[in-house]
Amino acid sequence: MKSKGLSLLLLVFGSLLNIEQCSSEKILVLSFISTKSHKLTYMPLVEELGKRGHDVTVLSPILSPKPMKNVRDIMTIDGVNLMDKFIKEQNFDLFKMKEENKQMNPFLMFGWFEGVCRDTYDLPQVQAILNESFDLILMQPMFNDCALGLVYRLKAPLVLFSPVSIANFLAEKVGVYFPPSFIPNVMLGLPAEMNFFQRFQNFGMEVMIRATLYFLYEPKVEEIYREKLGNDIPSASEILGNASLILSNGHFSLHSPKPLMPDIVDVGGLHSAPAEPLPKDLEDFIKKGKDGFILFSMGSAIKGDMMPDAKRKMILNVFSKLKQQVLWKWESETMPDLPKNVKLSKWLPQQDLLGHKDIKMFITHCGGGSTEESIYHGVPLVGLPMMADQPTNADNAKKNGYLVELSWNDLTEEDFMGAIQEILNNPKYRDNVKKLSALFSDRPTDPLELGVYWVEYVLRHNGAPHLRSVGRKLNIFQYHSVDVIAAYVAIVSVALYVIFAVLRLICRKLCGSSKSKSSSNGVAIGKKQN
Ligand SMILES: *[C@@H]1O[C@H](CO)[C@@H](O)[C@H](O)[C@H]1NC(C)=O
Ligand SMILES: *[C@@H]1O[C@H](CO)[C@@H](O)[C@H](O)[C@H]1NC(C)=O
Repeated sequence: MKSKGLSLLLLVFGSLLNIEQCSSEKILVLSFISTKSHKLTYMPLVEELGKRGHDVTVLSPILSPKPMKNVRDIMTIDGVNLMDKFIKEQNFDLFKMKEENKQMNPFLMFGWFEGVCRDTYDLPQVQAILNESFDLILMQPMFNDCALGLVYRLKAPLVLFSPVSIANFLAEKVGVYFPPSFIPNVMLGLPAEMNFFQRFQNFGMEVMIRATLYFLYEPKVEEIYREKLGNDIPSASEILGNASLILSNGHFSLHSPKPLMPDIVDVGGLHSAPAEPLPKDLEDFIKKGKDGFILFSMGSAIKGDMMPDAKRKMILNVFSKLKQQVLWKWESETMPDLPKNVKLSKWLPQQDLLGHKDIKMFITHCGGGSTEESIYHGVPLVGLPMMADQPTNADNAKKNGYLVELSWNDLTEEDFMGAIQEILNNPKYRDNVKKLSALFSDRPTDPLELGVYWVEYVLRHNGAPHLRSVGRKLNIFQYHSVDVIAAYVAIVSVALYVIFAVLRLICRKLCGSSKSKSSSNGVAIGKKQN
């Protein structure tokens, strides 16, 4: 009887557990501003969550190329068109900027974000989201702080997905500090082992970024979301600091290790996947040559058709002399005097090409996603870094011995040909990247599994507040113990002063008495000196 009751109990309990496991939760994936390549980094996670039965809504400026199970795709302001318009309006020529050694003006970007943010909040599909309720929000934080007003209104646990390895200023929001003495800012292209001047520079950069965020960027986004959704919404820092978890698209095999807490999980490689068979036209083109093929792409943000014509012709000339077939990502399918071994395409299945057995090398701008995919698939690189984190990525790859770096500004035909021949003829580049690939892949859990696990973990434990360190609650002075150090310095100073004063007193007494003993003359002199 007893055992029957027990098994019944177990059955009921088991089915309850089961229900909990299968229950589908409503997840909102949120981004107001995004590039295609940033969105690509987390879409496999979204797809997998949908496959596991969660009800996923993606609100973003870029539509997914294919429909996914249980995933509802809602488009905000057409991000691709917007980017193109911005580039045209601002005469934003990255090749020219690179040649003139100019950096992107952050204030120009802020102004632009502001307009996009206001317009996005006004969209009926975004307003309608406010009337729904969600169990979890997954947000891409880069340039998206403006959407935090919506996050706050929806009152659901927040998981952040950083499309690049987590930046210092984001980690800081959740109480994690990356010491600038050994974690270089990605924008500076510095090594992890820095000399005094490099540490000086790195520290200054970190302070400048904080100041820009604190005095310019955050007040602006707060103004916008309060204007659209109400004045009671807390600061951007507070909402970010309330995040349950940050998934960071990094891994310690790719950059030097960072001090992470349990609420920051490295899922680098989450979007890398084994190659699928190629479309027939590409496979046919590759098979036409007997010496394999080379892939050339400058990424999705750098428009190839803005490339100065002289450089384009020079590159084409080098390609025409190669025995290999060349696939070039270019914004149109035609080009005058295109050699037979070169094929242009607006869109290329990059991962399937990188994982193809006949690939010889990848000529790349060294964007984060491209560099990571090349490691995953073990393909050596010729690097033409342009801006942002690309020089740092190129530098890392060079140090790991699988990249020949070229300078875009000084690119000559000889250099370009030389780099390609070096990779083709020297097996060390491929060997090195294969070794790194083994390090990158050797993990207890597949990064996609890991990402899904942690998102579901936050769902299961209602925001998982136990993951948070108390560091989140401290202000900058408390965090770095500045107040305590100041107190100690004060106590020690007072103590030293007292000891010194007492010693002086004792000494004076002793000296005085000894002197008065020895001669009365001495006392007289001593008094004079006083
Ligand atoms: C949201 O709900 C409110 C009240 O329930 C309603 O007045 C409003 O029209 C709804 N908005 C949208 C966009 O559905
Ligand atoms: C923090 O997140 C919880 C949900 O996990 C939400 O209810 C609360 O309003 C949030 N607070 C702030 C300040 O964002």
